Order: sequence, then C-alpha cells, then structure tokens
Amino acid sequence: MKRYEQFADRIATLIRQGVLAPGERIPSVRQASQRHGISPSTVFQAYYLLENRGLITARARSGYFVRAHARRLMEEPRVCVQRADPAEVEVSELVFSVLESLQDTSTVPFGSAFPSPELFPLSRLASSMARGLRGLSPDAVIADMTAGHPDLRRQIALRYTLGGMQLPLEELVITNGAMEALNLGLQCVTQPGDLVAIEAPAFYASLQVLERLELKAVEIPVHPREGIDLDILEERLATLPIKACWFMSHLQNPQGASLSDARKRRLYALLKRHRLPMLEDDAYAELYFGSTPPTPVKWLDDEGLVMHCGSFSKCLAPGYRVGWVAGGRFAGAISRLKLMTTISPSIPAQAAIADYLLRGGFDRHLRTLRHALEAQQAAMLASADRHFPAGTRITRPEGGYFLWVEFPEHIDSLRLFRMALDQGVSLAPGPIFSATQGFRHCARLSYGHPWTARSERAMETLGRLLASF
Ligand SMILES: Cc1ncc(COP(=O)(O)O)c(C=O)c1O
Repeated sequence: MKRYEQFADRIATLIRQGVLAPGERIPSVRQASQRHGISPSTVFQAYYLLENRGLITARARSGYFVRAHARRLMEEPRVCVQRADPAEVEVSELVFSVLESLQDTSTVPFGSAFPSPELFPLSRLASSMARGLRGLSPDAVIADMTAGHPDLRRQIALRYTLGGMQLPLEELVITNGAMEALNLGLQCVTQPGDLVAIEAPAFYASLQVLERLELKAVEIPVHPREGIDLDILEERLATLPIKACWFMSHLQNPQGASLSDARKRRLYALLKRHRLPMLEDDAYAELYFGSTPPTPVKWLDDEGLVMHCGSFSKCLAPGYRVGWVAGGRFAGAISRLKLMTTISPSIPAQAAIADYLLRGGFDRHLRTLRHALEAQQAAMLASADRHFPAGTRITRPEGGYFLWVEFPEHIDSLRLFRMALDQGVSLAPGPIFSATQGFRHCARLSYGHPWTARSERAMETLGRLLASF
C-alpha cells in the first residue's frame, strides 16, 4: 500500500468511527504533513483520494471538511438468534416472486443484486470481446472448453499470487459465474438429507441450492460487523453431523460483515479439526473500501478443504457469466461434475475477460468503482438518517453495495416490499435471506446505483410507508 493510501485509510477510519465528526475541519495539509512526518504532496494525494471516496470536501480558502453525510448515524442491527435444530429449506417460491418483481427496470432498484451497469467499463469490454474472438483459433474453442481459456486461467492465478497465495493451476476451475462454482462444490461434498452450516441471514440463492439438493440448513447467526458466531458454530459442529459449510468471510451478503484475521484463523482451525469442507463464497472480494485487500480463509488452507469461489459478475462484467473456483482437494471432482452438467462457460466471454485483464486497467477500474460505491453508501446512509423512523438500525459495511436495515419490530418487510413496489421502489425483504423465513422486520437495500434526486425521493417514499405501519 502506498504512503498516501495508508494515511487516507487512517483518516477514513477516524471518520467512520465518528472521531472526526461531520462538518468538522480536518488538519490542514501543512499541519498533517508536520504532525505525521509526511510530505505535503502525500497529504494532498490522500485528501484527493478521500474526496473521491465521498468522505471529505474542500471549501475554498477554508480547508478540508468531513462531509455532512459521513456522519456516524444509526446503531447497527442486532444479532437475531436462530432456532438450533436443522431445518428443511423452503424459500424458492418466495424468492422467485420477489426476484420477478425486481426485474421491472422502471422501479428504483434498491432491491437489485447487481450494481449499475454504468459503473462498468462496458465499451472496453466490448473491444476486448472483439479482439478476444479474433484471437481464438477454431481448435482452441473446442480444446479450451473443459479447462477454460488458458490466458484467463493464468490471469486469475496471477491475481491469487499477487494477493499472497500460490495457486496451482490444476486447482482452478472456470465456471458459469460463482453460482455454478458454489452449486458444483456443494454437490461434490454432500448427499441429499445431509446437514450444511450456513449463515443467518444468508444469500438467498444459497438457500435455494440447499433446497434443490435436499440438504438441511443449520443456521449460524451472523454479527453484522464481525461475521459468523464461531462459538455457536463450534457448538453445532460438536453436536450435529454437519457435512459442509457455506460461508462468506468477507463482505457477507446481505449484512456486509467481514471476519477479522484472528477469526478466520479460528474458523480454519475448526474446519481442520472436523475435516469439514467449506465453500468460501467471495463474490464481493474486489469491492472493499480501504486500500488493503482482505485475505480469504483459503489463504490458510494447507489441507485443500476450502473451495474458494470468485466471480467477475459484481466487479467487471455482469452477464458474462464467468466465475471460478479454487477447488482445493475437490477440484477434480468439481471439474468432472461441470463436464457432466454445463461443460463450460462460453469461451468468447472468457476470451473477452482474458483480453481485458491482459491489457491492464482492471485495478484502475476497481479503484474508481470502489470510490463510487463508497460515496453512494454515504449518500444512502445520510438519506436513511433523514427519512427512516427512530429505532431503525443499519449496517455500515466496509465495502460492497448493500445496507442491511433492521426496522422497529412491528414493521413487516414483506408488506413493506409490496407497498413500495406499488410506489415504484424495490427492496429485498428480510425473509428471503432465511431458511426459516425469519428477519421479518429487516430488509436489504442496494446503493449500487449512482445517487440521484430520484433515489432520495424513493427513500422518502420508504420513510412515509414505514410511518404508516
Ligand atoms: C453472495 C453471492 N454469491 C454468489 C453470487 C453469484 O455470482 P455470479 O453472478 O458470479 O454467479 C452472488 C450474486 O448475486 C452473490 O451475491
């Protein structure tokens, strides 16, 4: 990490913690340079970065100030304790009915699972698609189908190396998005009727996968900031014959929680003790707000227990359906299962992403994307503060594009969802994130689209509807 990024991160942390309050002046460039023993140009660069991240603003001849919307706002949601016994999963009908209604592009997309396409380098990708296709030999199209496009495999492996993990290429299986990676991985290590530990709340598609494979869910509560409750996991592992787990160690969907390094080590020790395979869903890996990428549990995996699933859907190329799994000891089985089901993700889509990555510019795009999302988060938080009723609790994740909102207990988020849709606003109601349809008074809101006056009006609408309960 560069010096100015380190310094910017320190100031960002002070703002997030509320030590530097909204509207407060931050040290001048000269003061900061003297106090911290860094050059004025380093401070300038850091302040420029913080401005881009939407955390501070410059006022002519007065200096730099913490932006009004970067206030420490509402309290964080509480941990909801789930029932302890394993549950059959039956969420698909509800999830489908919610997802269907989210497809209407005329609604304000707070319920959407994807960020705005405007935030992606679509025209550069299109050029890469054309170049990638021209560069494909007819033979390679067939030959690369099983293993995946060789340049793409190398580029992904290189990113693992740069992140601090040497990944043997044989471990890498290119898939139709992370979703296929997760499906195949889980299928490789379970039989119908098995118990699988999942998060509560969990990404709704993981619940649907369990339902399809006739697996039972053991729900482990997730703290909105610290991640899964390892004490409860340890206790469940000691008492139930759990066959696999599916967790997000970083920017968990829907709450945005990330495990600290110490908690990742403890989780891995538990996996090792129980020889338990883990699907590590890292779909949001690139969307962290600070300057240091978090390291996945996979980095600790010296026994091949972790299937680390990644994707370009959320950070580069939505709709291209290209993801992967670093499958550990299960890579061969996953690869064979892929051959028996979908054979391969589209080779042209892989060639396009390979060309894009080879040409450079991915990291620059990611920095711009992260800054946009961070600024949009601040805007949505400020708006929630203005419009949502007293007693509303809300997360403040260190990345991604979702806020998890816990409304006062009497709010029924499924009813709110229907009322809001009638007014042209979508949201993702809490029960779709639970095997047991809990979290009735919670919802997930997306800030993945540029903030506009329409977004502000939509928050006002939600506020009005909430007041009517
Ligand atoms: C947590 C999580 N995992 C996996 C996926 C699926 O990713 P992909 O589009 O690469 O299949 C999503 C997409 O919504 C997600 O939110």
